[in-house]
Amino acid sequence: MKIWIVGGKGLLGKTLTALCEEKCLDYCVSTRHEADITDNDSLFAYAEKHRPTHIVNCAAFTDVDDAEKNPALAYAVNAGGPAYLAVIAKMIKAKLIHISTDYVFDGALNHPYEEADTCLPLSTYGKSKWEGENFVLGLYPSSCIIRTSWLFGKGGKNFISSLVSWMQQKETLSVVSDQRGSPTFCKDLAQAILRLLNEEGIIHFANNGNPSRFEIAQKVLQSKAVPKLALKCKEIIPVSSKQYPQLAKRPAYSALNINKAEKLLGYPIRKWEDALEDFLNEGL
Ligand SMILES: NC(=O)c1ccc[n+]([C@@H]2O[C@H](COP(=O)([O-])OP(=O)(O)OC[C@H]3O[C@@H](n4cnc5c(N)ncnc54)[C@H](OP(=O)(O)O)[C@@H]3O)[C@@H](O)[C@H]2O)c1
Repeated sequence: MKIWIVGGKGLLGKTLTALCEEKCLDYCVSTRHEADITDNDSLFAYAEKHRPTHIVNCAAFTDVDDAEKNPALAYAVNAGGPAYLAVIAKMIKAKLIHISTDYVFDGALNHPYEEADTCLPLSTYGKSKWEGENFVLGLYPSSCIIRTSWLFGKGGKNFISSLVSWMQQKETLSVVSDQRGSPTFCKDLAQAILRLLNEEGIIHFANNGNPSRFEIAQKVLQSKAVPKLALKCKEIIPVSSKQYPQLAKRPAYSALNINKAEKLLGYPIRKWEDALEDFLNEGL
């Protein structure tokens, strides 16, 4: 087995690389410069050289607001790139594991989204990621799509690291209370990916629970890691997302149902609060 991690400089790519290293697995990892996902020739050359048995695509255009301004690039990276990878994976008989997002849903449900629920993405990011999923499963049906949400982890921009940084600077912080989702610790996701390498079809993976962004901020403030983090913040004020207009529309509710993942993994996925506590104590 040899795993090719595409998008090795991103939050998930770095975490997965570190885990492969820790587990002494045979892997190779590419950045945009070594294998540009929008350039079929560079992907093909990399695949030919390294001959992976598994390809994990962690590369994506992930800036949700910027995607509204650069739709062509968002589609090239999030839809065209996975299509190239699907064709290459099929050609070299490698398994493709493609990472996708909760933003393929519109957020109109009031219970966690299952894999077969209807996708109605609201933003260019969500639409381009959904098109990527369709290309992957259309071109190479034995691929695996792992949808995840609200990623946090070490060494990359994410909502929780930003929260901590704002809390280090401000005594009072306003946080939206009308967006609910499933936070996912990159480390837990990376571990799951390695166990799901030979699965097919769509699987939802997130930590257990579906807090609002306001509830996450409250938990950060209650963490045992607060003294170490030197937080200035004393008060968090819940606000509506209408008070913080953003370019891209986001689903108000995008929690993922993780029953299928738990069944395949053979263990219960831990609660987001426990994962958050570990993350804050490990140091950002
Ligand atoms: N972050 C979240 O909250 C979240 C939520 C749900 C799903 N996801 C999904 O999870 C996956 C991993 O996300 P992440 O947060 O780890 O993303 P990230 O930190 O933004 O990393 C994405 C990586 O993709 C690379 N990339 C962009 N364009 C590329 C290109 N043309 N060729 C090759 N590489 C390219 C970037 O390279 P550079 O460093 O050179 O720009 C970056 O290293 C993505 O599929 C994302 O859609 C993320």
